[in-house]
Amino acid sequence: MEHPGHGPGAEAIRDYYFGGSGAESTLSWNRRDWDAIELVPRVLRNVAHLDTTVDLAGRRIPVPLVVAPMAYTSLLHPRAEAVIAEAAARHGVSYCLSTRSAVPLEEVADAFRRGLKLRGGSGTKPLLAFQLYVMRDHRFSDSLVRRAAKSGYEAIYVTVDAPFIGIRMRDRENSFAVPEEFLSANISEELEGWVVEESETRFGSGVSSARFSGLAPDPGVDWSGLGDIIDLADGMLVFLKGVLSAADLALAGGLPVAGVVVSNHGGRQLDGSISTARALYRMESELREYRGAVLVDGAISSGADVVRALGLGAKAAMVGRHLARALYERGEEGLDRAVSLLVEDVKVSLALAGASRPEMVERSQLLVPPGW
Ligand SMILES: Cc1cc2nc3c(=O)[nH]c(=O)nc-3n(C[C@H](O)[C@H](O)[C@H](O)COP(=O)(O)O)c2cc1C
Repeated sequence: MEHPGHGPGAEAIRDYYFGGSGAESTLSWNRRDWDAIELVPRVLRNVAHLDTTVDLAGRRIPVPLVVAPMAYTSLLHPRAEAVIAEAAARHGVSYCLSTRSAVPLEEVADAFRRGLKLRGGSGTKPLLAFQLYVMRDHRFSDSLVRRAAKSGYEAIYVTVDAPFIGIRMRDRENSFAVPEEFLSANISEELEGWVVEESETRFGSGVSSARFSGLAPDPGVDWSGLGDIIDLADGMLVFLKGVLSAADLALAGGLPVAGVVVSNHGGRQLDGSISTARALYRMESELREYRGAVLVDGAISSGADVVRALGLGAKAAMVGRHLARALYERGEEGLDRAVSLLVEDVKVSLALAGASRPEMVERSQLLVPPGW
């Protein structure tokens, strides 16, 4: 059978994957604003011994790169979640699986461990993480956290920028809906065992949970409601994904969480939201106070982007569509090459910037446009 990513509905799948919300302004600003930051390399800094490891909330990882959680990657390539997790681990890149995975989270953890084995060595290990949407029916999200802990996931990224799913015009025009077998693959056991309320309307649930309203994000979660998830995560690191304002970074600083991801969900939520480069830049003074780890994502596709992110104060960068596109267009080998090239590019870019370690990139090496 032809895979849906290359079959008759392929264009709608590409639109879902590579498009954004509204007029797609934020989607384009993410890229525009990384490009707008010019780098000022330092020289003669002895970069003969490069150490690319970084400390992410007490856990050392080999490179400051994490694969961003993306829903239904398997629409692009069979068993994509497992394929990407294995390739990431093989090259020392950390990986975060989406709640909306079409491969059960246990199998993705196995694939990640296979990748670690192939990587070999006894050095630092990349981190395996699970992204959580707090769902309207908390039984689903709670059960996912428990299963993730049991399967060896070490961190949870709680997505906080999606009380509702943003309206993506291309999906509406295409009447795009994720096929049901993809929707429920990660939670099929729970769906079978529990009575599930079916939604009558697609409003606010978007393409990914049209039928089961209990699986849609819970719009009622607030800062005080995060306590339950933090308790449930029991020992796993908890990150909040989707912070754009300095005020929210300060609030996160008051919670026992490991860190935050400065993210606008790849321009898929509130269109018109600030680009991530600019949002991170504007957090300068709060970053001095903040004790957790800050990550950033949004159109990251090169070592130079990672150097820019580090210069703005991030510990690591998350990479989404750049890798999804490599797998979609060039298959497993293409993905492998893309991951390995990105890791090499991070190393070379650090060296060329004059930094033998990621922490050595200085903010003064970034020329940021006036008015940011
Ligand atoms: C198709 C697609 C699905 C996504 N699904 C999720 C998701 O399930 N959970 C989540 O927290 N973020 C999700 N994101 C957002 C990514 O984690 C990340 O924030 C964003 O894609 C980064 O931007 P980039 O793709 O430009 O690198 C998704 C992004 C895309 C493109």
